[in-house]
Amino acid sequence: MTMKLYSELAAWYPLLDAPCEHAEEAAFYGDRLAESGDDPARTLLELGSGAGNNAMYLKDRFDVTLVDRAPAMLAVSSELNPGCEHIAGDMRDVRLGRSFDRVLIHDAISYMTTEADLRAAIATAYAHCRPGGAALFAPDHILEHFQPGAAHGGRDDDRRGLRYLEWTHELDPAGTTYSVDFAYLLRDGDLPVRLEHERHRMGLFPRAAWLRIIEEVGFRPTVVVFNHSELPPGTYELFLGTRPR
Ligand SMILES: C[S@@+](CC[C@H](N)C(=O)[O-])C[C@H]1O[C@@H](n2cnc3c(N)ncnc32)[C@H](O)[C@@H]1O
Repeated sequence: MTMKLYSELAAWYPLLDAPCEHAEEAAFYGDRLAESGDDPARTLLELGSGAGNNAMYLKDRFDVTLVDRAPAMLAVSSELNPGCEHIAGDMRDVRLGRSFDRVLIHDAISYMTTEADLRAAIATAYAHCRPGGAALFAPDHILEHFQPGAAHGGRDDDRRGLRYLEWTHELDPAGTTYSVDFAYLLRDGDLPVRLEHERHRMGLFPRAAWLRIIEEVGFRPTVVVFNHSELPPGTYELFLGTRPR
């Protein structure tokens, strides 16, 4: 499924999620990646790299290669990170034929809505992680901490403005997916403000499933709690996999 936010609306993405909002988390991901696995920690592959907002910070610490399945998002990221290699690919099956010291899958892994897809994405991370290296997985939610809610935000540039409502709800009865309804108000110069809406379906898995799948794929898994300044303490859990030598 092609989402408007990552295709026809991709050029608006930096007004919804600005690079400057990623400094705290990119520093955290960079530190965890640098200290996990053995040396060197020089090359980094990010799968589902989107607008490249984390890469903007991480490229100071790693040689970063970015993979996303949406060409329009790769174009946004290429403007922000012109020195990084950008490659079109799906995190479930892309194979670049080379390995990296570290692999990151940030919020894009939340688009894995079945265990089979989640396993395929983690297997892609494993296939690209050298022995002794490490991978970090950062889902938006795990089942234990999921809370419905709404958020809003947005900003302006010289000509355009975007405001959004992000409504997280509708845990499915099996508890493996939830929905995020996005409403985007878009102002382009003097044109009338227009409204776009779309629903994103996201995956939701318990901690035990994450740890099991990461281990089954071949990594040694650990939980990492990130007490981000904008989130209640203890509610944002990430998963690290180190690849045995
Ligand atoms: C929220 S954006 C990521 C933003 C990114 N964390 C950043 O800092 O700029 C989610 C991205 O996941 C990508 N994505 C979703 N499913 C994917 C898949 N199966 N393979 C690769 N990319 C995928 C989308 O194209 C989109 O660019």
